[in-house]
Amino acid sequence: MSSHGAPIPMTSTKSGPLHGVANVPGDKSISHRSLILGALSVGETRVSGLLEGQDVLDTGKAMRAFGADVINHGGGEWSVHGVGVGGFAEPAGVIDCGNSGTGVRLIMGAMATTPITTTFTGDASLNGRPMGRITDPLALFGTQAYGRSGGRLPMTLVGCEAPVPVRYTVPMPSAQVKSAVLLAGLNAPGQTVVIEAEATRDHTERMLTGFGAEVSVEHTGDGRVITLTGQPELVPQTIVVPRDPSSAAFPVCAALIVEGSDVLVPNIGLNPTRAGLFTTLREMGADLTYENEREEGGEPVADLRARFSPDMVGIDVPPERAASMIDEYPVLSVVAAFAKGKTYMAGVKELRVKESDRIDAMAVGLRANGVTVDETEDSWTVHGLEAGGVPGGGTCATHLDHRIAMSFLCLGLASQTPVKIDDGGAIATSFPIFETLMSDLGADLQRDPQ
Ligand code: S3P
Repeated sequence: MSSHGAPIPMTSTKSGPLHGVANVPGDKSISHRSLILGALSVGETRVSGLLEGQDVLDTGKAMRAFGADVINHGGGEWSVHGVGVGGFAEPAGVIDCGNSGTGVRLIMGAMATTPITTTFTGDASLNGRPMGRITDPLALFGTQAYGRSGGRLPMTLVGCEAPVPVRYTVPMPSAQVKSAVLLAGLNAPGQTVVIEAEATRDHTERMLTGFGAEVSVEHTGDGRVITLTGQPELVPQTIVVPRDPSSAAFPVCAALIVEGSDVLVPNIGLNPTRAGLFTTLREMGADLTYENEREEGGEPVADLRARFSPDMVGIDVPPERAASMIDEYPVLSVVAAFAKGKTYMAGVKELRVKESDRIDAMAVGLRANGVTVDETEDSWTVHGLEAGGVPGGGTCATHLDHRIAMSFLCLGLASQTPVKIDDGGAIATSFPIFETLMSDLGADLQRDPQ
């Protein structure tokens, strides 16, 4: 089943060259944070280029339930009239975050240090994901959590009346955990310190600074040490959301594997905490160039140009790069199937607790299409079959996971026989225009009768 309705089975068929310009939607991570930080400011935050995917819409709905005024002006223009740090009202109903781990985890952090009680739920995928990684550090502030076994949703959080600042070392590479602690620290007096051994996406730190909070980052032997001074008055901002590198990954990777393709994907943020996939593809020999490199809003940005690359080779992807491309391993495994030799991806056990167990979902689906995949708990290897060498013909289970669905649809565009997925419904959570955008480039994607 898709997140919000009946399943949408789809077929992807070997396509002619993909050509044209792919304007992918706004960045999902920055879109969630724009709405949440806007709601925690006093006054009007204006946001343009917001991703209008279901995940972000659910976060917008949640911010309204906490008392913020969230207005859609059309054409990607939104405004948020915030209630200020500590100003969240107790929601009248249950907060349903749908499919979104980022949404629920960041919102838990944002309400945890305000004395209100909130019950959270989500779809079948989200209700299966671990929340203890968030509620453990929130308990240090004084927040109580009552959930299902294994720390799963539905879960009720009782925000604390008199929070104390915390010092917390994040035990796994997770920007969601880091961000939840920082957002909770906003309403605690004094300094909240978060330490991460490996750098993860740094949008929360950057945006908090933009909204006027005092945030410092120090690089030490223990990793990145982030210090936030609590109880700031956040100042509303005007935010232009950059296009999402994680969504750009799909037209880029499709162009690399479909014969004769040449696709331009403009205005993609190349923040080093997000751009690991593109570095990896270039190391594999992909014809992927950065055009018109520039800085926008303090972030490196470029237009990506991807052309069919028949001579890509498998590589060992360094584990220390994992955090900067964690959402891109599914589509990388598809490219790896069309490369020569093995692609080994290590240090990726976080993939097992995403919207689905992404190692397992990709391994099973790739095998169903004639590709050999080995896996351990925290690594996997794809045995490449070279350009044009993937048989296809399989049906893939997508487990309510947008990136699994889009990855297998990319696989079918270059496989010898069509590839089917059981449900493309979840694609709307992050990339609602995926089908039209890919079809406009020349991709043969069809919805099957149910
Ligand atoms: C995100 C962090 C990552 C990523 C997710 C978005 C964020 O999750 O997979 O899609 O916006 O902070 P983890 O923090 O669980 O690695």
